[in-house]
Amino acid sequence: MLPWIQLDSAAIPGGGEMTLFQREKAFSIRLTGKRGELMNSRVFNSEKELAKLGCAYLKNTDKAHVLVGGLGMGYTLAEVLKVVNQSAQVSVAELIPEVVKWNQGALGECAKRPLNDPRAQVVIGDVKLLLETNKPTYDAILLDVDNGPEGLTQGNNNWLYSTQGIAAIYQVLHPKGMLAVWSAGPDYLFSVRLKDAGFEVDTRVVSSQKRSGTQHSIFLARKNTSSSS
Ligand SMILES: C[S@@+](CC[C@H](N)C(=O)[O-])C[C@H]1O[C@@H](n2cnc3c(N)ncnc32)[C@H](O)[C@@H]1O
Repeated sequence: MLPWIQLDSAAIPGGGEMTLFQREKAFSIRLTGKRGELMNSRVFNSEKELAKLGCAYLKNTDKAHVLVGGLGMGYTLAEVLKVVNQSAQVSVAELIPEVVKWNQGALGECAKRPLNDPRAQVVIGDVKLLLETNKPTYDAILLDVDNGPEGLTQGNNNWLYSTQGIAAIYQVLHPKGMLAVWSAGPDYLFSVRLKDAGFEVDTRVVSSQKRSGTQHSIFLARKNTSSSS
């Protein structure tokens, strides 16, 4: 089998590196050290499910605003753009500028270049900055920045899954808004924190590949329908 070829690497704020590899038509994004592979272009079913499950209720909503964190290989973003209608706005926050550059190059072919869709707007930086505004802004927030509700890409991501982070996310969602979080597996305590914040929580098990593969979890947290804030 041909070896993986390193195409580029990028520094991660707070330490470590993210590296892009290619083998024939396949790409892999890896983190330095024991953290291993973050994403492989051949395995993307659960990344799409994150978008389908998180945005299903927005199919017929005009001017829906969806926030995706982060870009990765663009599969989640591409699927959101399929689900929502033409009047929607989809913001995608990506921590590493090089990931955006990779998607503008050969990597972008994997998800058929969703960044070229005029409804998509990329914001380079930590998704946390978009979640701390305290203003109801989004109808859905889809998070796939680690391997689950624990900071993997960078330690600071732990905030996203903490009581404080969840409370901030609750504030920036519109009433009935949806938070969807990708995870490699279940996390009971995360579900409890979501419920304690006022979310109605449902956890779905999805396969990493269409008809097979590893089982992943998607946390679906709906802002309490009786809430007016
Ligand atoms: C697993 S990949 C996302 C895969 C994506 N769902 C897809 O369909 O290809 C994780 C991405 O989140 C980015 N990321 C990690 N932490 C972030 C943060 N705090 N804010 C924004 N992006 C972040 C990483 O740089 C990486 O591009």
